[in-house]
Amino acid sequence: MQKKTAIVTGILGQDGPYLAKLLLSKDYKVYGMIRRYSKPNFENLSYLDIEDKIEYVTGDMTDESSLMNLVKSIRPDEIYNLAAQSFVGSSWDLAKFTTEANGLGVLYLLTAIKHFSPTTKFYQAATSEMFGLGNVDGWQDEKTPFHPRSPYGVSKVYAYWMTVNFRESYSLYACNGILFNHESPLRGIEFVTRKITDGVAKIKLGLAQELRLGNMDSKRDWGFAGDYVEAMYAMMQQEEADDYVIGTGENHSVREFVEMAFKAVDIADWETFVTIDPRFMRPAEVPDLKARADKAREKLGWQPKIGFEELVKMMVEADLKRLSAK
Ligand code: NAP
Ligand code: GDD
Repeated sequence: MQKKTAIVTGILGQDGPYLAKLLLSKDYKVYGMIRRYSKPNFENLSYLDIEDKIEYVTGDMTDESSLMNLVKSIRPDEIYNLAAQSFVGSSWDLAKFTTEANGLGVLYLLTAIKHFSPTTKFYQAATSEMFGLGNVDGWQDEKTPFHPRSPYGVSKVYAYWMTVNFRESYSLYACNGILFNHESPLRGIEFVTRKITDGVAKIKLGLAQELRLGNMDSKRDWGFAGDYVEAMYAMMQQEEADDYVIGTGENHSVREFVEMAFKAVDIADWETFVTIDPRFMRPAEVPDLKARADKAREKLGWQPKIGFEELVKMMVEADLKRLSAK
């Protein structure tokens, strides 16, 4: 039997490698789309030991013709669009690029599917950042109104609705995974969780004396990326395409994350190491995210396996190991 094929954009990021590993375990041929680099970074793929199991193809979310060519030549069974300028903090400075890569890039991909491969299923990496200030009694689910708070959030709302619109207009199998924050040892270093676990590991090893952070009060629903890619896959195997909220249903403040990370290395007086630095505050903040993922549990049979404490420990231990090896 012929192998199923999938294009994964954003293959070098955090989620790309976890998803690719899952697809490879299901015997897919995986095409990983990367931009043109003078020196690409395959570190996350080699961390999961799959660097040489992917077929790499060149494309850029801001280059319409590159996406057209890929869809036309590969005509994959599935496309998982994970590529994005995904750092909220930079999206004010890079508003145009963020809009082009995260918003227009999705329009280009959907248009390519419509023209050249209408049976290809499409997954869009939507986000809880679309909710922003929106909530109902402190929770967010598929029916909660969007009120994005950053150019990143706005770009993802555009992509979300374009995905819904192509599904409704052209009957494409196109779905939005509205994922809440998910983390792992592969998380980029500028995101708060990894910045904390890397910083705490450095302090424990005597390589740093302080950790500088912004808003310690904001709350996030943090899960493990390895669990979340299973939800992406499940969304693409349904009878009909739909949109799903994915999260743990539990949230914690940045302060609680910091406390837990220091606890993992037996440092009790953590406050003496932490400095609040206004440079890491945002022009507009998303204060509180908490997922009600009942639909995913009922329809996809999905639920997270790794809890908050286990996640923090996993990340701190991975950073301790990485730094000690150096
Ligand atoms: P990530 O680590 O930042 O990875 C994003 C990838 O997109 C990077 O490999 C990046 O390539 C690539 N990319 C950026 N601009 C591109 C462009 N113009 N053309 C082609 N590729 C481009 O993000 P992640 O955490 O894996 O998240 C995956 C997706 O889920 C993103 O769309 C993100 O917005 C969304 N999301 C993430 C979370 C989360 O908590 N992690 C939650 C909800 C939604 P380079 O390596 O070249 O920079
Ligand atoms: N990055 C960062 N650095 N954030 C900080 C810091 C700091 O020094 N100090 C406090 N924070 C706060 C931010 O203000 C925010 O409220 C929270 O920590 C989380 O920030 P990030 O880890 O950068 O993630 P995010 O929630 O803004 O965005 C992530 O999750 C989204 C899903 O909700 C990204 O992965 C997005 O791509 C994703 O869509």
